[in-house]
This record gives sequence, structure tokens and C-alpha cells, in this order.
Amino acid sequence: MSGAEEPGAMMTLRVASRRQIAHDIVLFDLVPSAGADLLPAFEAGAHVVVMTPVGLTRRYSLCNAPGERHRYQVAVKREAQGLGGSRSLVDRVQVGDLLPVGAPENFFPLDAHAQRFLFIAGGIGITPIVAMVHALKGGPRPFELVYCARSPETTAFADELRAPAVAPHCRLHHDLGDPARAFDFASLLAEPAPGTHLYCCGPVPLMQSVRALSRHWPAGSVHFEDFGAGPVAAPQAPSPVQGFTVRLARSGLEVPVAAGTSILQALRDRGLPAPSSCESGTCGACRTTVLDGIPEHRDYVLDEDATDEIMICVSRARSPRLVLDL
Ligand code: FES
Repeated sequence: MSGAEEPGAMMTLRVASRRQIAHDIVLFDLVPSAGADLLPAFEAGAHVVVMTPVGLTRRYSLCNAPGERHRYQVAVKREAQGLGGSRSLVDRVQVGDLLPVGAPENFFPLDAHAQRFLFIAGGIGITPIVAMVHALKGGPRPFELVYCARSPETTAFADELRAPAVAPHCRLHHDLGDPARAFDFASLLAEPAPGTHLYCCGPVPLMQSVRALSRHWPAGSVHFEDFGAGPVAAPQAPSPVQGFTVRLARSGLEVPVAAGTSILQALRDRGLPAPSSCESGTCGACRTTVLDGIPEHRDYVLDEDATDEIMICVSRARSPRLVLDL
């Protein structure tokens, strides 16, 4: 899965192979181009930023087994309606080509203390989760995967998921585009087993549904990766308040937040640094205490009726003013 990203320092990697693994999805093997034998290590859930041939950067999950240092594998879905980044990779990049690639980052790591895992993937959202499956298979911590795709033709990594060590833990679900065939997540999520952590990656409607159905799970046990897919519609009715003001309690500064600008960006525009990482409402790095006002949550971390905290990278205000503990 991919999302736009600011480029940082980049390595130059060579395309060692490319292979179509589903309709409109190509798996690339990227290896050191010269001078280095090993790539920076990564853990399951990590992604890299890739500079595409049209000059747009995109984030792609690393799909191969964590621990492999000789290559990175990324699966790219050709987004026909996108801005052209993924399309240019699929249509133009061939074996032997060189690509600028950033160092791995991980906003979606496996919880070290989880006793078992439940994975829910939709479409190309399987990419971070297939690395998690690689990391856990044959190990002591059990896992279960539900992977929803439209059809067998759009199911990526089908061979890996049907391997004997993995298949007993996987359910591949094909809805054939028929809402009546949608997977029954309500039953799956009704009773969380103790010690289970839930990881979900896929289209925004899938993640919203899973988020709504897992609200009763223990705090900190539900994790999402959305690759900056854009503002997540709040489950409740959208706020009529477009622009609003944040007051920074420690300095008394008032900062207007215009419609279409995040609180985080408004602060940056005033030269005020604030912690952040994913900037898509999934990692929790920008969690900020709300002292007054009503937040409108658009993230995947906080409960929708939380009143005392906000993720300032994506969430907004339902009141004309928020007072933040900044
Ligand atoms: S920076 Fe990750 S949730 Fe805001």
C-alpha cells in the first residue's frame, strides 16, 4: 500500500526482479546497487519511501521476511486514477533500473507484549501484514489473518498465504464486489481474546468499519495503517465548524487553523514545533492534551468520544476554539 511522503536521505537501489502477483499488483525486489552488501534492517510493519519515475514519492510496506538484509520487497498496485506515482513504477520500471529509496521506518510495529495477533487486510493492505506473517510463522505467538479481496485474481501473495506453515491461520475472503458477501467482522470482533492485538490495513471504509466494531477492545490493542490515505471521516456527523482556533495554554498564543489545514501544519506555519511521525492519525506520536473545547477525532488511535486528548495531525474541532496543553 502506498501514500505520499516527504523525501528524506535516500539510497539508490537496483531493481533485481519484478513479478506480477495479482491483477494490477507488481512485486519488486530491490537490492543494493553498489558498494554495500547489506541493506538497513527492518521489522515487520515497516515501510520505505520510494521516488517514482514521475518525481512523486510514495510509501510502500516492506513485504519480505524481516531479517532479510540482501533485498527489500515492495508490492505496488497500479492506481489508474491516482496522480501517477504508482502507475509510473508499474508501467516504466524494469529490471536493472535504479530507484531512490529511503531508509525503513515503522509506524505499525508488532506489539512486543501481545500474546496473539488478529490481522485484517483488505486489498493491497495485505502488504505490511504479509511481513508480519513472515515474522510470526513457526513462532510461539499464534496469529490469525482475514484477508479480503474482491476475487482470486486480485489476491496478492496467494502462494505465500497457502503455504503449509501459514494456511491454517489464514482466511481468504472474496466478496466478488457484492456487499451481501461482505465478511462478518461484527462476529469476528465481538469478543476479544485476552492478550490479542488487532492489526488492520486496507481501504478506508474497511478500517472505519473495523474501528467501529472494535471500540470495546482494550486500549492500545487495536492498530491501523492507512499510509496517509487522507482525512478519515469521523464516524459521527462532520462538524459544521470549518476553520477554528487553537489556544496554546502554556504561552497564551492563539493560532487560527483554516479549513483544509491541520493543527500540526498551522503550528508549523507559525514556527512552532510539535511531535509527529506518521501524520496520518495512526501512530499516536502527536497525541496532545485538550484542556477546553470539543475535539473532532479523525484518527485511528483515540476513541471517538474522548474529550481530553487529540491527534493534531488529522483531527479537528467541533467547537470554535480548542485549548491545548502546548
Ligand atoms: S503523527 Fe501519527 S497520529 Fe499524528
